[in-house]
Amino acid sequence: MPEHDPRLLYLTRRDVAAVGGASAGLYVDALRAALVAHAEGATVQPLKPYLRAGKGHIADRIIAMPAHVGEPGVSGLKWIGSKHDNPAAGRERASALIVLNDPETNYPVAILEGGLISAWRTAAVTCLAAEHLARPGFTDVTLIGCGVIGRTQVDALLERFPGIGTVHLHDLRPEAAHELAARLDGRVATRVAAEAEDAVRAGDVVLPCTVTDRPYLEFDWLKPGTLLANVSIMDVHKEVFLRADKVVVDDWEQSNREKKIINQLVLEGSFSREQLHAELGEILAGTRPGRESTGEIILLNPMGMAVEDIACAAEVHARAEAQGVGTWLDLY
Ligand SMILES: NC(=O)c1ccc[n+]([C@@H]2O[C@H](COP(=O)([O-])OP(=O)(O)OC[C@H]3O[C@@H](n4cnc5c(N)ncnc54)[C@H](O)[C@@H]3O)[C@@H](O)[C@H]2O)c1
Repeated sequence: MPEHDPRLLYLTRRDVAAVGGASAGLYVDALRAALVAHAEGATVQPLKPYLRAGKGHIADRIIAMPAHVGEPGVSGLKWIGSKHDNPAAGRERASALIVLNDPETNYPVAILEGGLISAWRTAAVTCLAAEHLARPGFTDVTLIGCGVIGRTQVDALLERFPGIGTVHLHDLRPEAAHELAARLDGRVATRVAAEAEDAVRAGDVVLPCTVTDRPYLEFDWLKPGTLLANVSIMDVHKEVFLRADKVVVDDWEQSNREKKIINQLVLEGSFSREQLHAELGEILAGTRPGRESTGEIILLNPMGMAVEDIACAAEVHARAEAQGVGTWLDLY
């Protein structure tokens, strides 16, 4: 019997980008299928544990995100670390590895840099939501928090929705908003707002991408027809959940935990699964309606799912193998 000599493919961020991992198309296609599979109960996704060492900032943590997608499909884990003050030291806030496992043997077959995939899959969720939940023909996008996640959201939306005319930017650090405005120069009109309220009032699609743990975004700031994609989860006052025409999540179980706003509302008895309009995958599968009138205010609460990371990483891995990209590593 030949000696078993397992190997795995290591993909750096540059490798991931080289096979299409730095634009929206790969992610939107992979996620459409994965989110429908998730809604149909055809994925396996244990609740993600948060490792918090000490009593730090809300964004100081490492999260383990395992999932299985497809049949026979692929299994894997995203292991994503975060420190809120990394950007002040010139580092990205989040850093991540994704490990993919062959479901036949459960051996690891690939290790991928996960920060790029994580940012783009998060942006692709917003793109899919915008297809179904934004007002058709929307022109104004508002971004609160101009870090890596926010920038990628804007890049992805501009790629998928060429009708966007103006991007309104706000950041607690005005220089971050001005830097992004300069980066977007020539692609779209930009406006830097001194106050979050001013930016939010202008948006058809509103994207909080901050690291706040204190809600500031009020329902009365939202104009009729707004899609509010609550990417950073803690920005939106409770009343927005209670007054929005539709509340959509990626996964109810993941949203209703860890004292996040939905969980707080459920514990207080003012929100429940019955009041939820849908999980996003149900809307993509066509079993629940998306936007039904131009005036609806719709709140998407995307906690972020391992299923998304693993489905996207599997597509990146398949392309890299086919194109001979990456570095093979011996396991033994
Ligand atoms: N839902 C998901 O699937 C998902 C996935 C990835 C990241 N995220 C979240 O996205 C958020 C942003 O991540 P990042 O990597 O871009 O972080 P980052 O630290 O690089 O950028 C955050 C930006 O927000 C600004 N900011 C902080 N508080 C603010 C406030 N109250 N008002 C306005 N601006 C504020 C900061 O100055 C900074 O420029 C994080 O909260 C992260 O957890 C969500």
